[in-house]
Amino acid sequence: MSEETSAPVTVATLAAMKRAGEKFACLTAYDASFATVLDAAGVELVMVGDSLGMVVQGHDSTLPVRMMDMIYHSRCVARGSRRALRVVDMPYKSYSTPAEALVNATRLMEEGQAQVVKLEGGAVQAETVRQLTAHRIPVCGHIGLLPQSVQELGGYRVQGRDAKDAQRILDDARSLQAAGAELLVVECVPASLGRDITQALDIPVIGIGAGPDCDAQVLVLYDMLGITPGKRARFVKDFMLGAGSVQAAVESYVQAVKAGSYPAPEHCY
Ligand code: KIV
Repeated sequence: MSEETSAPVTVATLAAMKRAGEKFACLTAYDASFATVLDAAGVELVMVGDSLGMVVQGHDSTLPVRMMDMIYHSRCVARGSRRALRVVDMPYKSYSTPAEALVNATRLMEEGQAQVVKLEGGAVQAETVRQLTAHRIPVCGHIGLLPQSVQELGGYRVQGRDAKDAQRILDDARSLQAAGAELLVVECVPASLGRDITQALDIPVIGIGAGPDCDAQVLVLYDMLGITPGKRARFVKDFMLGAGSVQAAVESYVQAVKAGSYPAPEHCY
């Protein structure tokens, strides 16, 4: 890697990539070894997701994940990662009020070595986002399918299929950007809505099951390596097939995201 491409990625780097129309690649990681593989493959953003509750801890949702789990795994990832921007999930019920969010986000930054914190929810989280950014804590929003609300949603379902729901999600995206969020994850929505949100916002939009027009893509690492048991979501592609090694699979994911060939129509809603 050249000096320029090995420099640590910042929120400003990703904003500049969006302005230049250059796509970037994101993946989850929960430990130092995989974080090293992601860095070597050129992944720009590593997400320490609370999906670790499912793929590492074996729960059937992300709800049982606690602050101590996020801090532990984020510290592990920080030891393996030199370049990728580290975005760490705020776990379920760790941000019920803006004041509680500030205490817990500060812990993720200080103890967990997070560089950005991610929280789920739209306009309802605007005040919390304002509180965190006022205290110099960079925030990534997360809208569309919200895994921490799986009980309320009644399952992991595509969101924003009808015009009213799509408009609500677009309004959520605008509220989070106005509140100071610097990145936004959009999960499991029709590709047309992923495109509309990406075009409407100045901040980078990271899609997961949100179509090819987002500024970036993210997948749960274990899903794209084909080791998550059970039925695979439509948007997941197994990059291990034919790759020969984990490193080659991650490199092929990075290439496909940057070239815009992943997600393909068969991965979209
Ligand atoms: O928990 C997680 O891993 C996530 C991403 C995959 C978006 O939220």
